[in-house]
Amino acid sequence: MIAAVERNSELLDDFEIEVECLLEALFLRWGHDFRGYSRASLRRRVARYLADTGIQRMADLQHELIRDPQRCQHFVRGLTVNVTDMFRDPAFYSVLRTQVIPELRSHPFIKIWHAGCSTGEEAYSMSILLQEEGLAERAVIYATDINSRVLEHARTGIYHDKMLVTARENYQASGGKVQLDDYISTGYERFIMDPVLKRNIVFTTHDLVTDQVFGEMQLVICRNVLIYFRRELQSRVLTLFYESLDMGGFLGLGIKESLSALPNQNSFRIVDSAVRLFQRID
Ligand SMILES: C[S@@+](CC[C@H](N)C(=O)[O-])C[C@H]1O[C@@H](n2cnc3c(N)ncnc32)[C@H](O)[C@@H]1O
Repeated sequence: MIAAVERNSELLDDFEIEVECLLEALFLRWGHDFRGYSRASLRRRVARYLADTGIQRMADLQHELIRDPQRCQHFVRGLTVNVTDMFRDPAFYSVLRTQVIPELRSHPFIKIWHAGCSTGEEAYSMSILLQEEGLAERAVIYATDINSRVLEHARTGIYHDKMLVTARENYQASGGKVQLDDYISTGYERFIMDPVLKRNIVFTTHDLVTDQVFGEMQLVICRNVLIYFRRELQSRVLTLFYESLDMGGFLGLGIKESLSALPNQNSFRIVDSAVRLFQRID
């Protein structure tokens, strides 16, 4: 007699197992490592990819991903969430103005890293802030992302004007000294960042999972990226930021993110808990 096999409710379902296999295949074949990402968002992105491309079966997608580098690039770009805004969470920028800028003034040369900058609005916001505080001439902003397509967009500095209302409101709420319109030109349903703002921004690809430290930074900003990572990966990435920062350097995270996965949390002091701003003290 064959014993009835009861399904353990903690086991993964078929689709979840197939996603695990896909992640392993991506890593083994191309070195793209998404295995440390939180699964809820990742599974939604994979399901969306299947729906958008009309690929019926996970086995077919896996077959293509292993053999076709272009399919792989296309798929990987679809895995990341790229939502962003100018002066997103304005309170974060006003705390930068009051708490961080005064300390940056003492440095002859200022290095800032925006990790996971998406389409670049965050880096342009920083560039505006530095202009207004008279620090732009001695600062360089490294704006990095895993997704080369969003970086191409970032380099253009051109955005759809449906984002403009929020951008203007955020700029004012962040303590902006003039008008956002002083830094942009508009037309054809777009707004374009003043090219002067690009002068000190270096847009380049960098994968937080596999790439190395960006050294001797006075400020590292990585907002709304760690939420997509599992705890072990958060720990690795936070350690990377710790090692990238100069003593006394600042770290800005997203509103829903924290240092809790960092083994040496005491190496940072809290500058402002509401906007998740920290300073390396050890
Ligand atoms: C939701 S956006 C956040 C954009 C911006 N930091 C903000 O807060 O508005 C997350 C960004 O993280 C990037 N990202 C995801 N995984 C990454 C990785 N392993 N290395 C670098 N960037 C990554 C994505 O491509 C995406 O552009």
